[in-house]
Amino acid sequence: MSPTPLRAPPAATLAGTIAVPGDKSISHRALMFGALALGETRIAGLLEGEDVLRTAAAMRALGAEVIQDGPGAWRVAGRGVGGLTEPADVLDMGNSGTAARLLCGVLATHPFFSVLTGDASLRRRPMRRVTDPLAATGAGFAAREGGRLPLAVTGTGSALPVDYTVPVPSAQVKSALLLAGLNARGITRVVEPEATRDHTENMLRHFGAAVTVSAEGAGRVIELAGQPELRAGDVVVPGDPSSAAFPLVAALLVPGAEVTLRGVGLNPLRTGLLECLREMGAALTVGAPRIAGGEAVGDLTARSGPLRAVDVPPGRAPSMIDEYPILAVACAMASGTSRLRGLKELRVKESDRLAGTAALLAASGVRTEIAGDDLIIHGTGGPAPGGGTVETHMDHRLAMSGLVLGLASRAGMVVDDAGFIDTSFPGFVALMNGLGARLAAP
Ligand code: S3P
Repeated sequence: MSPTPLRAPPAATLAGTIAVPGDKSISHRALMFGALALGETRIAGLLEGEDVLRTAAAMRALGAEVIQDGPGAWRVAGRGVGGLTEPADVLDMGNSGTAARLLCGVLATHPFFSVLTGDASLRRRPMRRVTDPLAATGAGFAAREGGRLPLAVTGTGSALPVDYTVPVPSAQVKSALLLAGLNARGITRVVEPEATRDHTENMLRHFGAAVTVSAEGAGRVIELAGQPELRAGDVVVPGDPSSAAFPLVAALLVPGAEVTLRGVGLNPLRTGLLECLREMGAALTVGAPRIAGGEAVGDLTARSGPLRAVDVPPGRAPSMIDEYPILAVACAMASGTSRLRGLKELRVKESDRLAGTAALLAASGVRTEIAGDDLIIHGTGGPAPGGGTVETHMDHRLAMSGLVLGLASRAGMVVDDAGFIDTSFPGFVALMNGLGARLAAP
């Protein structure tokens, strides 16, 4: 596909009330759990971004019936735990690390052969973090050098339960092991030294599995009893806080702006960005806090105003791992020097996001340094100069961050390829333009 460059000229202001698309993490899981349950699962608010559509196609290729009834409204007729069947072709997970890694868990404990691949970005990303611990179930994995995709899985029909301490904070690794544990005899035990998003645990419970979660220091111990009968359950997907982050920060930075985002997921393991923005002095309010589909949800209102620098501790990373590029944009226009600590994991996202974020700010005329795993940003205390071009490296979040920076800068910004935004946030351009932006081809 040829790249789609896009320009964000400075916005006069932004105003309005909008809803962002469904949560990506919950959408992937809803389709996978639906396929592993008996009966028909109905999903409302499913994210129809390319990443999730890849998961829908994979679950279909594995024998589940996956039907779209209308916008965001999907039905999955599941095959039961252990009931998926061998796919006739390679499963192409596109740009999605979550889809690929979680599926490795599902496939490990189904007794057939399958092959996973992805686009150039996904084929560069490390998979050993899931395949090494999953091999303890008895599954076999063969991959390219460094454990990279394409990757072949020989699943096992007599899986052993795994007891594993996750070495890096990763909800994907935890979730892959729990999904594999669904079709293992006995108790699968996963220890995470730092708590990460718990959508898998919540959904296991929702579909009727016996799962216990206990706190252990800053982390958690999760125990799952294998071979439950998962019962189909309806899923209401909240708005994705990781997508809401882009219009939210745009509203904080563009002079005179006020934007309300309805129905945003506020799971406490996802709200690190809001904590940082509050520490920076942002005018943020949460309206109508409620529980929807088992997850905390609220309406977020952001109002423009001056921001001050922030020092973000490494322990906050799991609750905002996808939000560092857009937080960095906020820091770029805050007064003072910000330090975002402990960002090692950003190097293995859709791109090397640590380098990509530093380059994005540099392209807009903001002084930035990488010191070890920390990102140091010398804020301009007002609109960044802008005027540069952002290299997005097949990374949707770098693209959206570059565009938001452009809206709040003096000279605007160009991103070299906005095409990947559709992986997580279809309709981003129309939605931002509806608020008053003028995103357009350069
Ligand atoms: C996700 C976990 C995170 C996050 C990704 C979605 C998930 O990845 O970056 O966008 O749905 O479990 P890691 O587990 O690699 O931190």
